[in-house]
Amino acid sequence: MKNITLLGATGSIGTQTLDILRKEKDRYKLTAVSAHKNYEAMRKIIDEFEPPYVVMTDEESCNKLRVYCKLHNMKVEVLMGMEGLIEISSLPQVNVVVTALVGMVGILPTLKAIEGGKDIALANKETLVAAGELVMNKAKQNNVNIFPVDSEHSAIFQCLQGNSEKSINKIILTASGGPFRGKKFEELKFMPKEASLKHPKWNMGYKISIDSATLMNKGLEVIEAHWLFSQPYEKIMPIIHPESIVHSAIEYIDGSVIAQLGNADMRLPIQYALNYPERTNMVVEPLDLIKVGKLTFEEPDYNNFPCLSLAFEAGKCGKLMPAIMNCANEAAVDLYLKDMINFGDIYYTIKECMEKFDYCQEVTLENIIQTEQQVREYINKKFL
Ligand SMILES: NC(=O)c1ccc[n+]([C@@H]2O[C@H](COP(=O)([O-])OP(=O)(O)OC[C@H]3O[C@@H](n4cnc5c(N)ncnc54)[C@H](OP(=O)(O)O)[C@@H]3O)[C@@H](O)[C@H]2O)c1
Repeated sequence: MKNITLLGATGSIGTQTLDILRKEKDRYKLTAVSAHKNYEAMRKIIDEFEPPYVVMTDEESCNKLRVYCKLHNMKVEVLMGMEGLIEISSLPQVNVVVTALVGMVGILPTLKAIEGGKDIALANKETLVAAGELVMNKAKQNNVNIFPVDSEHSAIFQCLQGNSEKSINKIILTASGGPFRGKKFEELKFMPKEASLKHPKWNMGYKISIDSATLMNKGLEVIEAHWLFSQPYEKIMPIIHPESIVHSAIEYIDGSVIAQLGNADMRLPIQYALNYPERTNMVVEPLDLIKVGKLTFEEPDYNNFPCLSLAFEAGKCGKLMPAIMNCANEAAVDLYLKDMINFGDIYYTIKECMEKFDYCQEVTLENIIQTEQQVREYINKKFL
């Protein structure tokens, strides 16, 4: 029986993780969960799973949940804020921490979980983008596994089984192309968020949906792949695959290409990350290749989706540049979702921050946090 802490339990990945736990009750115990503000969803989770620890990072929602638990005589400790996230990430009885939070807020709890010797099932890609060096070094020092949950990275991880990272020639990172595939940047500049949120293949949280529309999501994944599989950026090749059936592939030095295929359903990579190295019974629809018929692939359009180029640039610069890029993206997407900037401004804002802020500092937690604050302040001052 594995004891699980689930950070971000009310989100898209969080609820799909709960679905796996629901189906594999004899394998997992949900020890702790977190959410930010979504009190209603959290109430349902604790009613059903009765985890002994719960965190709400938002103060008002936390107080509301404390009252609810008291009134219903529930044996649950309700914790608040970052302190709570750190506490549930390092509980002695926990074996695996699923990081399904959105954004750089995941960095500190992930590092604390690793220090505590917990394996990580990592969905929270922003943590690896902004603090990849710190996270991977700490994981190595503490002999901790980082199991990828992102479907592309899970695919690569699955294709790597029985092979060595040293014999990788190329990582082929597939992308659906998002809702605006084939469109020009000029046409997209004033695209309303309602259109940007309509992903053709995946039903995801708001932030990642916008990242998919700008293709920044693929850029973040390039950096994520660099850290997870120790590959230089020259060997990571994004490729557009609108059917979203091939979740990614590896070309080996002998010319063999090994790919992982499946229907677009995040429960499969979540299940694999939790059960590794075992495979357990299918929770997703089986893939019918006859029905799929054909699979197509095309070159990404770097000119009209320039965020993807920015991510390569940031990754190759290294040091604090990926953190600057990531943070600028988080702040810009947040403003776009609040209708305060246009779709095109997301790219311009990230580019401006990458040019403005000093990235040549040592990669320490303190420097990452300080840079994040400066970038956010700058963007908010500019637009608010
Ligand atoms: N969704 C997917 O299919 C998918 C696929 C691959 C990778 N990912 C990655 O997985 C992560 C989660 O994505 P998602 O789509 O599941 O996001 P989501 O649906 O927006 O859920 C985010 C979760 O994080 C919590 N949260 C939000 N802001 C927070 C804060 N400031 N402090 C603490 N907790 C906070 C939310 O709580 P409330 O509900 O209370 O706000 C929610 O539980 C992202 O890094 C994303 O890139 C997602």
